[in-house]
Amino acid sequence: MTESAKDLVTKLYETRDLIDEEFRTLLETDEYDEELFKKADQVRREHYGDKVYLRGLIEFTNYCRNNCSYCGIRKSNQNLERYRLSKEQILNCCREGYELGYRTFVLQGGEDIYYKDKILCDIISDIHKEFPDCAITLSVGERSRESYQALFDAGARRYLLRHEAADDNLYRRLHPGTMSLENRKKCLFDLKEIGYQVGAGFMVGAPYQTTENLIADLRFLQELSPDMIGIGPYIKHKDTPMKWFKNGSMELTLRLVAILRLMFPYALLPSTTALGTIDPKGRELGLQAGANVVMPNLSPVDVRDKYALYENKICTGEESAQCRNCLEMRVLAAGYEVVTDRGDVKR
Ligand code: 5AD
Ligand code: FES
Repeated sequence: MTESAKDLVTKLYETRDLIDEEFRTLLETDEYDEELFKKADQVRREHYGDKVYLRGLIEFTNYCRNNCSYCGIRKSNQNLERYRLSKEQILNCCREGYELGYRTFVLQGGEDIYYKDKILCDIISDIHKEFPDCAITLSVGERSRESYQALFDAGARRYLLRHEAADDNLYRRLHPGTMSLENRKKCLFDLKEIGYQVGAGFMVGAPYQTTENLIADLRFLQELSPDMIGIGPYIKHKDTPMKWFKNGSMELTLRLVAILRLMFPYALLPSTTALGTIDPKGRELGLQAGANVVMPNLSPVDVRDKYALYENKICTGEESAQCRNCLEMRVLAAGYEVVTDRGDVKR
């Protein structure tokens, strides 16, 4: 390792920031990785010890009104059986999760117009009534400020909405003309103002993405200052127009996880399913690069393969009925410990 590598990582550690040129240097070679991962692990231990938080993921609908060019559940994918879980099915997932020790439920779905505020609020308030000690997280895309407020009033307290790309040109290349970066950002700031703990994030190695684009993502995150940041490699899906693009790399994803840990020491950073899909050791390495959250799948096993955002997604088979155990073993093997409390962000 060169002395300059150490200096650069130390500067990032001490100031939580770098100039663009320095970020570019960090991002474009593997020369700094060793030092970067070491420092990121140190910082995560300073703030969170060896704790890894569990978030039970319930993928409750794969209907989507949008047509994002990279996403397997995009509206024009006809090659996919659509499903929606009933309120009772969702509650059963929560019940099973509660037994397994989960105290956070993440309700994730496509932008499904079936879920008007009334329907979604009813589901949220029933979960909230039955599990008052659990945190309810939503990840259901772009909605109006009034809608976000209604969902908050029903009991949701966290919201995951990846910004996807902070560069306007890249954003437009990845998304249909009906969507805009401007509205995406508005949604994120609305959510924050309402009082949600907010998660943003992006894909690594998305089609057309450059180092400058990634630096723009880091700058946007500095502006937003989210509680959670979810990143994972782009993985192609055969039924999308972007199937010709190559997958994002694990190495660059890990490097970004470490950079994010140093920039946002307090943040909740998931070691994502996409990272575990691109490489069998991906999630473990993600934890060692600074991630401190894992999101085991709690969806009914018979719908899991239908929530295919990308190819070869893990945890979709019968054998993954209990991701909790699998993940607990993996977290332990990586040198950390699973904790079951709600894990509210510590600023
Ligand atoms: N590869 C990797 N991640 C994807 N997502 C959607 N499609 C893909 C893909 N092909 C991510 C998006 C979205 C999150 C739920 O999954 O970033 O916000
Ligand atoms: Fe789902 Fe391992 S985490 S099977």
